[in-house]
Amino acid sequence: MTHEFTEPITGVDRYAVIGNPIAHSKSPLIHEAFAKQTGQSISYERILAPLDGFKATVIDLIAQGFKGANVTVPFKFEAYKICDSLSARAKSSGSGAVNTLINVNGKIHGDNTDGAGLRRDIEQNLGIAVVNKNILILGAGGAAHGVLNSLVGAKSITIANRSLDRALELVMSISDCKASASSFESLDQPYDLIINATSAGLTNSELPIPDGIFGKNCLAYDMMYGRETPFMVQARRNGARVADGLGMLVEQAAEAFYLWRGVRPETQPVIDMIRAL
Ligand code: ATR
Repeated sequence: MTHEFTEPITGVDRYAVIGNPIAHSKSPLIHEAFAKQTGQSISYERILAPLDGFKATVIDLIAQGFKGANVTVPFKFEAYKICDSLSARAKSSGSGAVNTLINVNGKIHGDNTDGAGLRRDIEQNLGIAVVNKNILILGAGGAAHGVLNSLVGAKSITIANRSLDRALELVMSISDCKASASSFESLDQPYDLIINATSAGLTNSELPIPDGIFGKNCLAYDMMYGRETPFMVQARRNGARVADGLGMLVEQAAEAFYLWRGVRPETQPVIDMIRAL
């Protein structure tokens, strides 16, 4: 179902994505596509906030009447701190990070849609159920933290990280007693689902992970998108099914759009559109 904007640009509800840097952000394209598809009249802008001026930027947007915003690197943790109220999942994620702001009568409500976006991409788009799977998460930074809670129902969760201390810390911070910590090198069993939540792909760095972790019918999911990372190359070489994080990007946006507009857009056409760019 496709609609065109029917209202004039003035008077539409305004949204934005705030980050630094921000020029690369695909969020405006994604939300404009959602709006068109669902017949919602919104505008969506990229906002570059100074590194020391995130809060002032948000206050200014609220004063201008913006209805909501997405928050990206490096402000997700600061966003958590400045909210007047937080959703249950933002509170319980343990990451202390917020990626979606909602203007509720001038007060800032914070949510985090990253975990839901990841799970939806894996289950709805890629058709792999999380329940009863042996899951390996590579990395123990903000990205790993933010999605852990969305993996409830897994048979086991192993968190492997370059610095073992950080993996242990993350395991301790979650209530799921089925989680355990490991170094990369000592991983010695196959997994059903492996999620790369490290930022190693940014520098094209290989992870010192054994080939044997890619189990039969394994899904190897890299939260990065836009490039084939060494992790994806290794997974492919070992017969795993491979996915990048583009679906998660679109799904976390769809979840934010739903929070703002009460309408859930179809994501597959938007994933295809962004992939084709
Ligand atoms: P993010 O918010 O993207 O998760 P972060 O909190 O800085 O960023 O975490 C980056 C993650 O990638 C960490 O798990 C980091 O490992 P360490 O905790 O040992 O630093 C991991 N990482 C980054 N570069 C890596 C590399 N070249 N090899 C292995 N792990 C790497």
